[in-house]
Amino acid sequence: MTTASNNSKRQCLVMGNWKMHGTLADNAKLLAALRPYASKNAAMAVCVPFPYLAQAQDALKGSSVTWGAQDISVHSHGAYTGEVSGAMLKDFGCRWTLVGHSERRSMHAESDQLVADKARAALAVGLTPVVCVGESLAERDAGQAVAVIQRQLAPVLALGADSVNQLVVAYEPVWAIGTGRTATPEQAQEVHAAIRAALSAIGAGNIQILYGGSVKAANAASLFSMPDIDGALVGGAALIADEFLSIAACGDQA
Ligand code: PGA
Repeated sequence: MTTASNNSKRQCLVMGNWKMHGTLADNAKLLAALRPYASKNAAMAVCVPFPYLAQAQDALKGSSVTWGAQDISVHSHGAYTGEVSGAMLKDFGCRWTLVGHSERRSMHAESDQLVADKARAALAVGLTPVVCVGESLAERDAGQAVAVIQRQLAPVLALGADSVNQLVVAYEPVWAIGTGRTATPEQAQEVHAAIRAALSAIGAGNIQILYGGSVKAANAASLFSMPDIDGALVGGAALIADEFLSIAACGDQA
């Protein structure tokens, strides 16, 4: 049940999701602390609120730490008040954008198809979308975890192998986000292996699959030791420089 479908492990990616946190002053300290991070086996990235993209670009340019956004419009330009296009993100040096975070799925009614459309919009401008999927506690308790994730992934897989090979998937069980309740490494691995199998079936079995949900320095190493966990999407702990750097250090050793 917990076997990986690929032998060689992919590079570890430790990505911070700041959500709607930060101030210019707090960010300056956090980014300055992250900037010297020298990626060995683990790459580091931060996904910051839109207004702080320029700050992240200034603070991280020339370092090994990359940055990105937390959402993207499906549209390239036009009368879409409040939306931010992929081209705009590229203007600020973004490498990544999250799509389909559970907070956007639940609070902004984002459908599985819209999430896939956002992934496509990101790829169209050369951004790497990090497609977030994950089941609620009720869905898990009903034995539906894998089925829910397969449903969420279906329109993304329909983009085809060429596209899917260019994206990252993040498995974030909703019940583990911001709750302090992490999935056990075995629970996470079981879902990661199912995701890997679905990706392999279309010829995209070797992309990175991150785990997210209450990742911290104390649990990162055991998560990263799982064969199909290729890094982490980190919320709360990404706002604390030492904690986030320690998680990346676990990735370096994985
Ligand atoms: P958390 O958030 O690490 O605070 O649980 C993870 C996420 O929502 O990406």
